[in-house]
Amino acid sequence: MRQSFIAGNWKMHKTPAEAVALAEELKKGLSDCKHKLLIAPSFTALDAVSKVVKGSNILLGAQNMATVEEGAHTGETSVLMLKAIGVDVVILGHSERRHVYGETDEMINTKVKLALEHGFEVILCVGETLEEREAGNAEKVVKTQTESGLKDVTEAQLEKVTIAYEPVWAIGTGKTATPEDADQIHKVTRDTVKNLYSDAAAEKMIIQYGGSVKPNNAAQLMSMENIDGALVGGASLKADLFLPIAEYDK
Ligand code: 13P
Repeated sequence: MRQSFIAGNWKMHKTPAEAVALAEELKKGLSDCKHKLLIAPSFTALDAVSKVVKGSNILLGAQNMATVEEGAHTGETSVLMLKAIGVDVVILGHSERRHVYGETDEMINTKVKLALEHGFEVILCVGETLEEREAGNAEKVVKTQTESGLKDVTEAQLEKVTIAYEPVWAIGTGKTATPEDADQIHKVTRDTVKNLYSDAAAEKMIIQYGGSVKPNNAAQLMSMENIDGALVGGASLKADLFLPIAEYDK
């Protein structure tokens, strides 16, 4: 049985004080939650939130990371900086990074390897655009993004990788993939891991779904065979929405 992994991606929301307040609320509300939990505040709030979740059952995530450890990279954040403030997990390849900021599969793969070399867990995001889905290419796109993102990652390192399937057309739009459609792409992703590594690696791989996950659709999505958790955007910004998602089976 794979453990459910529920993550909140706070994107570019909340000042440090607001982020600390929400983290405190979630820490209290989820203290006996049996699922794996993560919150990913923006960079300016990471240090403050790190102090709140330290020693709790909530992991701390960063939303991105530079491709190199240090140097003349104005505006970037290094793996070493994230390490120094207690970040556990780095979200990489989010569709907003791919499509708004032009990150390529090669850049994402470089980041994945760098994060893993430094002992971080990684959430590798994959997902097709509406255009790609309508052209019948959803499975192909997700397969390619999975293969490229995991290039030269060893099977031992894979233990620290979660994949998040986030169809771009379902992010922040209120449109969710049907549980059956999502499960189908999750299965393709799992088969891709199987072909790249082994049956055992595929069986263990946690694959989250992301894209308009809300309290009213979380349980149904999570009931699907290949959906092992959620990467939540908008609904992770309020405790009264995120708590019931994280406790979808209570
Ligand atoms: P929404 O839940 O707001 O659709 O965002 C999903 C997402 O992009 C999480 O990373």
